[in-house]
Amino acid sequence: MDSFDTYNDDDRIVAMEGQSSDDWQYSLRPHKLVEYIGQDKVKNNLSIFIKAALSRGDALDHVLLYGPPGLGKTTLAGIIANELGVNFRQTSGPAIERSGDLAALLTNLQEHDVLFIDEIHRLSRSVEEVLYSAMEDYALDIIIGKGPSARSIRLDIAPFTLIGATTKAGALAAPLRDRFGIISRLDYYTPQALVEIITRAAEILQIEIDAEGAREIARRSRGTPRVANRLLKRVRDVAQIEGSGVITSELADKALNLLEVDHAGLDRTDRRLLDTMIRKFGGGPVGLDTLAAATSEVRDTIEDVYEPYLIQLGFINRTPRGRVVTRAGYEHMGVVYPE
Ligand code: ADE
Repeated sequence: MDSFDTYNDDDRIVAMEGQSSDDWQYSLRPHKLVEYIGQDKVKNNLSIFIKAALSRGDALDHVLLYGPPGLGKTTLAGIIANELGVNFRQTSGPAIERSGDLAALLTNLQEHDVLFIDEIHRLSRSVEEVLYSAMEDYALDIIIGKGPSARSIRLDIAPFTLIGATTKAGALAAPLRDRFGIISRLDYYTPQALVEIITRAAEILQIEIDAEGAREIARRSRGTPRVANRLLKRVRDVAQIEGSGVITSELADKALNLLEVDHAGLDRTDRRLLDTMIRKFGGGPVGLDTLAAATSEVRDTIEDVYEPYLIQLGFINRTPRGRVVTRAGYEHMGVVYPE
């Protein structure tokens, strides 16, 4: 990806398998706040802040969105730009390699534009420092030359809104975190919100689905719209080839079993993690690095993708000595809990 991109870039991956930049996902994305389902508190707050900024004629304060992957941080950032009626510029922490890259992005912004930086916790220190004065004073301090003749000049940039997204708010340096006026945490979606999202997506994609079918997919989507939309598409394939074309709860159940998504929404990797913890490590405590080595999974993926949902379900706990499988986790895996 370019370090400078517009709103047609896909959400960053995660969950289960790699993600291609499908057009269908773009078309499914809501473009207005009223179309955005769920996250009511975040949505209501943002709606007020956006209206207030617009009526004052100011740039919206900088916004930090955090929470597990797939919950719609990029979508929400795009919506904010849309509601403000400004350009949406999109990049990501790892894509900005040098402070010059960031300076180029910032000097190209027009008044009140939104600059979205995904995975903002992965910005390098030197790039982060450029951001401080940009956020605080809408200015860039640029060093020209080297050695004794080096001098610093201050360059004004247009008032803009930075929207940062991260899965780990804790990984953000405090000086950076403190410069966000609005900090919003996205949570896993309720089954009801997911039913609405699935129903809306089915309408857009012209997929026939009944209420129970939507409920079955919602229950097994790990609280995540990105997963729900992906499962909807795969279940549709099964309905088309093996069913009557309509997604009912029986058909959804059959298709999701084929996809090895169980009744709690766990996939093969989730279950392998639980199984490894139970059988190789007696249910824990086991450290993240040990677990990564034992399962050949990437440590960060376990930490950012798999673990948060397993914790949310109450199947594992974080302790100071490592991760442990709970009684509910044992029961889900059909193994007797050691008293
Ligand atoms: N598609 C993906 N996430 C959505 C959301 N929160 N609301 C509506 N449609 C969505």
